[in-house]
Amino acid sequence: MIVGVLKEVQKGENRVAATPQTVKDLIKCGLEVYIESSAGLSSHYPDKDYEKAGAKIMPDASTILTKSDLIIKVAPATLNEIDLIQDGSAYISLIQTTRDQETVKKLTQKKISAFSMHLIPRTTLAQSMDALSSQANVAGYKAVIIGAMHLPVYMPLLMTAAGTIPPAKVLILGAGVAGLQAIATAKRLGAQVEAFDVRPEVKEQVESLGAKFVEVESDQDDGVGEGGYAKETSDEYKQKQQVLMKEHIAKSDLVVTTALIPGRQAPILIPKDMVNAMKKGSVIVDLAAENGGNCELTSAGDIVNHEGVIIDGTLNLPSTMQVHSSQLYAKNISTFITHMVKEGNLNIDLDDEIISGSMFTHEGKITHEPTQQAMDNS
Ligand code: NAI
Repeated sequence: MIVGVLKEVQKGENRVAATPQTVKDLIKCGLEVYIESSAGLSSHYPDKDYEKAGAKIMPDASTILTKSDLIIKVAPATLNEIDLIQDGSAYISLIQTTRDQETVKKLTQKKISAFSMHLIPRTTLAQSMDALSSQANVAGYKAVIIGAMHLPVYMPLLMTAAGTIPPAKVLILGAGVAGLQAIATAKRLGAQVEAFDVRPEVKEQVESLGAKFVEVESDQDDGVGEGGYAKETSDEYKQKQQVLMKEHIAKSDLVVTTALIPGRQAPILIPKDMVNAMKKGSVIVDLAAENGGNCELTSAGDIVNHEGVIIDGTLNLPSTMQVHSSQLYAKNISTFITHMVKEGNLNIDLDDEIISGSMFTHEGKITHEPTQQAMDNS
């Protein structure tokens, strides 16, 4: 069975779906690997390293697309690429299936068994394949570094002959994977860190990283969803949250927002009036920019200066740390592939919750219910 690795064509995408190490892992599992020439260059993996690992270097994408049994990518394949993929073969990438409907349609028409690394269940068994977590970790780290670059103040406490500099106040909204890494990074830089999340069970994790947990008083299980994710909160909770947020945001130098409810637009946690209440020179880094943003003034892909407050909505932060994000993503994907392969062939076992959970098209049908619903409603 041939696994084909393409050079990414999406603008600004520096990652690659396989590294020389994961090529070795795939070959050890009885697979052949074809890789497009210079596919790893943006991540600083030259062709010769892939060749040494046992991959065949192909001069162009079309040979790979037409000959491979499984195509792996970071960003979703383009419609032109899918045209060339063999009917009935398999495909894996990061793809938001409820949004990228044209791609889903095309993959269905070609009877491709397609898997999204976004849909790998966040279970203990699937941890080593969890690309959303590996990439969110990178984003949480980089968000704080970007925030520190924008800030006109120091992050740590400094006692100098010319006076004492207090530590910067950092507030993290949403303490999931990205948020926890943002907390850890801001702490390492010496900031005074607070965090808020609608799920009270993350309090312990926040505190174990040395940050203060900001709590909204509530006697219900407001915000606690299934599988470690959040759900929509009540109106009463939202009102209390707004009052508390306004107070804490106004005091912060840097706010990093990561709040997400799966399959939904990101909740607006920082409306314009809260930005107006912030000090000039303070910064918001909005990791939820791609899903609409947690700040009303976020513009996806842009850095906005609103009366002296910077709101950074830079997209695809993992691509700016492509060596490590590729290394982690490639490992997630090769672990997923080796999980599916039996005796050198793909064994699509629909009773396996990792395989069926991450699959969205198979044998000409959409197999992922929320994707089907999104298509029906559009
Ligand atoms: P996650 O699901 O692990 O964490 C999200 C957290 O937000 C959860 O703990 C949840 O309880 C919390 N939350 C939900 N609604 C909230 C609310 N109203 N107030 C406060 N907290 C709330 O998600 P993960 O993997 O940490 O991703 C976080 C965000 O970062 C997502 O929006 C994701 O799309 C984004 N992301 C952005 C990247 C970029 O380059 N800009 C790269 C990777 C992820």
